[in-house]
Amino acid sequence: MNTNANQPTKNDEKNFLVKEVVARHQHSKGALIPVLHEIQERYGYLPVEIQEKVAKEMNISQAEVFGVISFYSHFATKPAGKYRISVCMGTACYVKGAGSVLDKLKEKLHVKVGQTTEDGAFTLEECRCLGCCGLAPVLTVNGKVYGRLTIEDVDTILESYKNDGGIA
Ligand code: FES
Repeated sequence: MNTNANQPTKNDEKNFLVKEVVARHQHSKGALIPVLHEIQERYGYLPVEIQEKVAKEMNISQAEVFGVISFYSHFATKPAGKYRISVCMGTACYVKGAGSVLDKLKEKLHVKVGQTTEDGAFTLEECRCLGCCGLAPVLTVNGKVYGRLTIEDVDTILESYKNDGGIA
């Protein structure tokens, strides 16, 4: 006898999540982006199965859903890495060289913004002002703040997480 017959499956959970989010947004204009945003917030990323369900629930093509996801670097189709590196691109950080820090991270990790490294260790993201502009330029790793960054700090920070210890 299957005692789990009434237990919701992962697929049921995904269906429920998509239906519930779409139902709340369906009467607003341009609902697709907020729908995808909320599902990603709650599920973590937007795999193909979720994209299919969103398209079905919203009565639009899967190509349309995928088009929006691939246009905005904020949307992820794979789970985030173990460490989420988020570089602040707010004005103060940008003026103090956040762009060079971001470029160095892209080069070292071989990813673009919104992507995760092959080994699943790092996801690279951009964010807006973190509210600590006095430390600009700033990045966070899983929420931990690193400020007054130089390009050279990128190597040190990455090495510390590759060794799994993090910087004290
Ligand atoms: S602009 Fe980066 S912390 Fe404010």
